[in-house]
Amino acid sequence: MSHLHFLLPGAVVLGLSGCGQEPDVPPKPVDLEVAAQTWNTTDKQWGEAELRQLVEGERLYRKRCAGCHLSSGEGQMTLGAPALRNSAVVKGPAGGLMTTVLFGRGTMPAFRTSMKDADLALILSYVRNAWGNQQDDLIAAADVAAARGAGK
Ligand code: HEC
Repeated sequence: MSHLHFLLPGAVVLGLSGCGQEPDVPPKPVDLEVAAQTWNTTDKQWGEAELRQLVEGERLYRKRCAGCHLSSGEGQMTLGAPALRNSAVVKGPAGGLMTTVLFGRGTMPAFRTSMKDADLALILSYVRNAWGNQQDDLIAAADVAAARGAGK
């Protein structure tokens, strides 16, 4: 009976790690110095509130999008998920980007029912500036609300 005692914890760990879902990592306190080093460029110095939005956007991106597009933004050809790094859609007019993510495209799921305007705004602000995309602007929740209202 004693060996069972040692096997059970391993079985529990396997069960949890095998469920295939992205872990829901809770927000950590933002280290503004690290965030500034990460995000500021010679062309753009972000404010404190903006840095917090980019950090939270990265956290939400990893949770909701990286499963297909990878945390590097390189995408996964096997899933048909294109790179978001240097993507014309991501770097193009915000309207097209918001419509793609709200209403889906091809096999890409729509996020309009599963995500709030504010959270989508954070994710889209992140992808427009991550991996050298560097659009130097943020998308506001009100912009996402307007795109949602305008429809596909
Ligand atoms: C289940 C996999 C999956 C998830 C999760 C996913 N995508 Fe996609 N995404 C795709 C696929 C597949 C396409 C290509 C759609 C097509 O054109 O057929 C795509 C296309 C895109 C495009 C268009 C890129 C281009 O250059 O054409 C953007 C932008 C995008 N996704 C952003 C996101 C964002 C932001 C999230 C998270 C909120 C996300 N995706 C989550 C699979 C996914």
